Amino acid sequence: MCGIVGYIGNKNSKDILIGGLSELEYRGYDSAGIAILTNGKIDTFKAIGKLVNLEEKVKDLEVDGLSVGIGHTRWATHGSPTELNAHPHLGEFSYVVHNGIIENYKELKESLISDGVKFLSQTDTEVIVHLYEKNFAKLDDELKAFEKTISQLDGAYAILLITKSDDKKIFFAKHGSPMIVGNSEDEIYFGSSDAALLGKASEVIYLEDGEYGYTSFGEIKLFNKDEEVALNKKPLVGDKISAQKSGFRFFMEKEIYEQSDVLSDAILGRVSDDKIIFDELESDFFDSVNHIKICACGTSYHSALSASYLLERDAKIPTTVEIASEFRYKEPLLSLDTLFIVISQSGETADTLEALKMAKRAGLKTLAICNVDNSSIVRGADFSIMTRAGIEKGVASTKAFATQVIVLWMLSLYLAQKRDSITKDKLQDEIKAIKHIPAATIVKDELHQQLKRLSKRYLHGHGFFFIGRDIFFPLALEGALKLKEISYLHAEGYPAGEMKHGPIALADSELFTVALIPKTLLYDKVKSNVEELCARDVTLLAISPEPFDLADDFIKTDSHTHPMGEFFEMMVVTQLLALEISIRVGNDVDMPRNLAKSVTVE
Ligand code: M6R
Repeated sequence: MCGIVGYIGNKNSKDILIGGLSELEYRGYDSAGIAILTNGKIDTFKAIGKLVNLEEKVKDLEVDGLSVGIGHTRWATHGSPTELNAHPHLGEFSYVVHNGIIENYKELKESLISDGVKFLSQTDTEVIVHLYEKNFAKLDDELKAFEKTISQLDGAYAILLITKSDDKKIFFAKHGSPMIVGNSEDEIYFGSSDAALLGKASEVIYLEDGEYGYTSFGEIKLFNKDEEVALNKKPLVGDKISAQKSGFRFFMEKEIYEQSDVLSDAILGRVSDDKIIFDELESDFFDSVNHIKICACGTSYHSALSASYLLERDAKIPTTVEIASEFRYKEPLLSLDTLFIVISQSGETADTLEALKMAKRAGLKTLAICNVDNSSIVRGADFSIMTRAGIEKGVASTKAFATQVIVLWMLSLYLAQKRDSITKDKLQDEIKAIKHIPAATIVKDELHQQLKRLSKRYLHGHGFFFIGRDIFFPLALEGALKLKEISYLHAEGYPAGEMKHGPIALADSELFTVALIPKTLLYDKVKSNVEELCARDVTLLAISPEPFDLADDFIKTDSHTHPMGEFFEMMVVTQLLALEISIRVGNDVDMPRNLAKSVTVE
C-alpha cells in the first residue's frame, strides 16, 4: 500500500527521502516520487515501477543546506500507475502526498473544474492541493488554508503538503491512515510507518485521527479541532539490522527462518509451568462473554479459523469467524455477550479496522491480536495482545501468521483456565506442547534442500489442491494462499473430506495435491480421502510423519504428541514449498505483483 515520507533539516533530504521510501518498499507500490523545496525552489521527480527508476532520475540533483522534502510510494487506486498519477501532486505553488481515499473527491473536483482549475491526474489526491490553493487565495494564511482544506475532505487520509509561499514548513494531517512524526534534535521526519524512521528519528509522535499541524526546522506544532495539543513523544524502538535481509535471498525466506525465534518471543512471560498469563488483559474482561466472533482478512483470517477450533475445543466458547470485508456489509446481528476479536499483522487493514469500529459502535468488548503496536487497530480495541513477530517485510505473511496462531492457542487456554473448562493435567500437556513449538519450527537444512529439489516438478499442471482436516484445513488454505501469492499458480485449500463433493472432478495426473496428513489428528480419515484422490491419478505430495506409499513425493515430518506440533512443522514445509516454487518461476518473492503489504483501502 502507499507509503509516505517527509523531512525538514540540514541533511541531504534527497538521500533521506529515498532511503525512507526504500524502507517502505515492502508495503508494495507501483510508482514513486519526491518533491524537495530549497529556498523557494522546488524540484520534483516521479517514476513508475521500482524505486531504482526514481533514484536514476534524481541522481544529478544536488541538495545543500536547509531543505524541505516529501516523498511517496503509490499503489494505484484511482487511476492507473503512471507518472502523472504518481505523487507528489502539484498545484501552482504547492505539492501534496497522500495515503487513503478522498471519498468526496468527485464533487470537489467538479467544483474546482468549474472554477477553472486544470487537473493533470486521475487521482483523488490532486483535489487536495488545488483545494488548498483555492483556500489560500481567500484566506492568505497557510495554516488556516490547510485547516479549511482538511475540513472539506471526507474519507481517510494521511497528508503532507509543502508550499512555496512558506518554504520552510511541512503541513500534515491524519484521519484514518497512519502517520508518524519523528525528530532527532532539530531534524524532523515523517513516515507512514516506523520502518521509514528507524535509524533516523530518536523520538516519535504517533498521530491520532483528527490531528494536524505543521513542522518547521526544530519545531512541531500539533492541533486538534483548532486547539493546540501537547506532543506525546515516545522513544522509537526497533533496530534497523533486523529489518535487513541478513544474507537470505528474500525477506520472506529470512522471515521463515526467524519463526522459531519470534515464536519464543511470543510465548515469553506468557506461559509458566502450569498456567497461561496475559498481563495486558484485565482479569474481569472476559466475564459475561458467551460467544466469540473473530474478523480478519487473508492470512489473518486463516489464523482466526484455526483458532475457532481451539477456542471451542479448549475454552468451550462458541466461536464464529468472518472475513472482515463480508462482515462489514452483511448487517450482522451482534449480541452484547459476544467478544469481538480482530486479527491483523499490520493493524491498518481497512476492512478489519471498520469491522472493529462496527463492533465498538454495537457496544461489544473488543480485543485486537496484532503485530504493530500503536497501529490503528491496536488503538481502537479495548485490549490488545501483541504477537511480537517483529517487522515483517515480505508481502506474503509467514512469521506473523505463526505468531498469531500461537497467541490464539494461548488465548484459548487462558480462557479455558479462567472458565475451568480444562483439567490441570491437560493444561500442563498443552503448555509442554507450546514450549516445544520454537524447536519444531527450526528450519532443517535437509528439509529445505529437499524442497528446493522437488519444487522443479511442480511448475506446470492445472493447479494445486492443499487438503487437510480440522485445524489442518485452515493450514491448507494458508498453504494455498502462500503459493498463489508468490508463484501466481492456481492453488486452492480444501477440507480433505469435502473433495468428493465436487472438486475431485478435477483430479488427474496434472492436478497437484499437497496433503497434510498428521498422525495425531484424524489420520485414518485423511488417509482415505487422499487414497480416493490417488485412485484418480493425482500427483501427490504427502506431508506426514507416516510413510505414504502412494505419494509421488513425500516429506517426512517429525513425530509429535500434540497436533499443534504437527501444525507448526507442516506450516514451515508449505511456506518453503511456496518460496522455492516462486524462486524457480523467477518471481519477485517479496513483492509479488498486484499485492500490497498493508491494505489500507477497502
Ligand atoms: O495486516 P493484516 O494481517 O490485516 O493483513 C491481512 C491480509 O491482507 C494479509 O494477510 C494478506 O493476505 C497477506 N498478503 C498474506 O500473505
